[in-house]
Amino acid sequence: RECSAGLVLGAGFLVSACGGPQSALDPAGEEAAEIAHLFWVMLAGAGLVWALVVGAAVFGGRFQRQPISDRAGLRLILWSGAFAPTLILAGLLIYGLRLMPVLRAAEPALRIEISAEQYWWRITYVGAGDVRIETANELRLPAGRAAELTLDSVDVIHSLWIPSLGGKMDMIPGRTNRLVLRPQRPGTYRGVCAEFCGTAHALMAFPVEVMPPADFDAWLVRQAAPATPGGDEAAFLANGCGGCHTVRGTAATGTIGPDLTHLAGRSSLGAGLMPNTPGNRRRFVADVERLKPGVRMPSFGMLAPAELDAILAYMESLR
Ligand code: CUA
Repeated sequence: RECSAGLVLGAGFLVSACGGPQSALDPAGEEAAEIAHLFWVMLAGAGLVWALVVGAAVFGGRFQRQPISDRAGLRLILWSGAFAPTLILAGLLIYGLRLMPVLRAAEPALRIEISAEQYWWRITYVGAGDVRIETANELRLPAGRAAELTLDSVDVIHSLWIPSLGGKMDMIPGRTNRLVLRPQRPGTYRGVCAEFCGTAHALMAFPVEVMPPADFDAWLVRQAAPATPGGDEAAFLANGCGGCHTVRGTAATGTIGPDLTHLAGRSSLGAGLMPNTPGNRRRFVADVERLKPGVRMPSFGMLAPAELDAILAYMESLR
């Protein structure tokens, strides 16, 4: 009974990996579709080799009672154990190699620089005339257009992986890697850091929003605008927030932490850690060191409640 329960559980995990916002088998972009296709072809080829070798072994077993000539035995071993698998594997190799230029070539219309930092993502959209629009921890892409991501790291090796859109690419200090993605299906997906990079590695993710191109263009125009804060800027600055964070158009010009210019418009908080709600923002600011061990931001739970309220109201106004 345990065995069948295990099988049901295993099948459940297998099926659950076939969908959702973070599945390489449910592709939402051209590169991911190529990879998913390659996976299924490889699986079929591997299954064929397995069936041949195991079939030959089972077939060979019957000759224990019924003698077979040495020649016939050798032929069985060579064909099913060596020649046929070699042919099948060579076919798979040729198929896989043929895909490689397709994965590399592209004419990207949009360039986005992503820098990995323990444990978050600095994301800069580079527009015409080298206009730079910085945001953090949320990647938005237009559907049907190629986007070129240039990837690097400021501290240790990280790796960017958005399974629904394409393969993973390492982010290495001192080196710029390039990843071209052509998302096709609008929706919300999930990207992760795929290389162990320290205590909060597992908490280094980000939502990926693939939008209709017109919506994306409108969003980018809004991101380019400076902040129009309606809250109490004095509390934010007096407690040193501006020393690490930039709020464009204000006196907060720090560059150590994520740009907060349009923070309240983002869907998640703390690099995919939790939904960006007022309650979660309070928990995050008050207790970040416990929620995300290893981050450089100190917890601000020691502030007087009125002071914390003022900072949170200010953050809420950064739309
Ligand atoms: Cu960054 Cu793991």
